[in-house]
Amino acid sequence: MIDKKENRVLVVDDEASQRDLLKMVLTEEGYNAEVASSGEEAVQKVGDRFYNLVIMDMKMGGMGGLAALKEIKEISPAAQVLIVTAYASVDTAVEAMRSGALNYLTKPIDLEELRVQVEKTMQFSHLVAENESLKAQVSGAFQAQEIIGKSPRIMEIFETLRMVAPTEATVLILGESGTGKELVADAIHANSNRGQGPLVKVNCAALPDTLLESELFGHEKGSFTGAVARREGRFKLADRGTLFLDEIGEMSLLLQAKLLRVIQTKSFERVGGTETITADVRLVVATNRDLEKEVREGRFREDLFYRLNVVPVTLPPLRERREDIPILAEHFLKEIAERNGKLIRGFSPEAMDLMVRNRWKGNVRELQNVVERAVIMARGDVIQPGDLPGHISDDGAAPSGGIIPGRPLSDLEREAIISTLEMTGGNRTEAAQLLGISRRTLQYKLKEFKIQ
Ligand SMILES: Nc1ncnc2c1ncn2[C@@H]1O[C@H](COP(=O)(O)OP(=O)(O)OP(=O)(O)O)[C@@H](O)[C@H]1O
Ligand SMILES: [Mg+2]
Repeated sequence: MIDKKENRVLVVDDEASQRDLLKMVLTEEGYNAEVASSGEEAVQKVGDRFYNLVIMDMKMGGMGGLAALKEIKEISPAAQVLIVTAYASVDTAVEAMRSGALNYLTKPIDLEELRVQVEKTMQFSHLVAENESLKAQVSGAFQAQEIIGKSPRIMEIFETLRMVAPTEATVLILGESGTGKELVADAIHANSNRGQGPLVKVNCAALPDTLLESELFGHEKGSFTGAVARREGRFKLADRGTLFLDEIGEMSLLLQAKLLRVIQTKSFERVGGTETITADVRLVVATNRDLEKEVREGRFREDLFYRLNVVPVTLPPLRERREDIPILAEHFLKEIAERNGKLIRGFSPEAMDLMVRNRWKGNVRELQNVVERAVIMARGDVIQPGDLPGHISDDGAAPSGGIIPGRPLSDLEREAIISTLEMTGGNRTEAAQLLGISRRTLQYKLKEFKIQ
């Protein structure tokens, strides 16, 4: 589908042998590969013509990879950059990705990984080129997944996901209900090397203990009433893929012990069976409980917690990233309007304002439902406050009124701070955000007005 001849790659390394090896491999793969022997030369070449992809060593004499990366992204934002770094310097990798690198390879370079990464990056590059409107989203959309967001909290999560998805690491996804945990699990799988393999999901809260055990590990015929035939478990079905254990916090201590053993030995037996079964599975787990608290209170095994908590990803509640509300709302509006065949252009400023201020206890899922309802209810082609469910206007919105001409501004300021803090249940970060001031300024004003 993609004509690799049109794919220009620039290999940047001050070490000739490495440079030539990469060029040879890429040329064999059908790419149009060129080389540069320093950061300076790379910057110059990128200035002269377009490269879809730049593969660059971080540690070079002269200007160095990081500085070159920054310049390259400035000259040619559409050029994708893969950086090459020594195994030990994950910090450098993180910094490089902050500066715009798409991904990183560790030394010594595994040629198979190189092929996969280059192929992926090329596809990404073409996707970007094909759809100019994607440009605005590239920073938001994690490799074509439907995770919408541009707040710093979400950007941080994208960064973690980019780093961790292609690895084998167990990921623990934390967050309130409706914050997008399952979406993140999907993205991890899709962006992993197991993306072509199965993604098997098990909701640990949906089944009683004994059934969950047989669901996970399978059972032999006759092992319990109703076991009329042998059945493979989800672990086996996820072989060479990803197993997503949702609501892991609901798992009984007994089953937690069994799960721990499976993680340690990478093998298990079916319920009622003796045959040892192995499965090559990458684990992704999620819960809306505070697992550390569950551990402290004896409801979750500490040893299992440590096994699962390799890479924690904590999804912030929507009210802590209000700047994402408009783009999420627009995204859902477009999708839902299309599905319902309704022509709706957008939200009125008043309606959007109410949504941005709402508390969103149910997070993104609630927002999605509210938009869906609004689309169905809307009379005109713009969604008005009246199209939103009643609780959006009274539950969360900042109270208004009491503004009497002639009252000292400081009084109004004080009242605004107090009522906003009441609304956020005392959460100062959130209150500061709503008031449009920094946390520090809020802190200062609390002192000034002697508010407890
Ligand atoms: N950042 C996002 N961009 C677009 N859609 C999102 C985003 N986050 C969540 N959603 C959508 O919101 C809904 C809820 O997300 P999801 O099911 O992943 O949440 P969850 O954290 O697993 O919730 P629960 O704990 O209730 O199972 C889904 O329809 C999902 O597609
Ligand atoms: Mg979920």
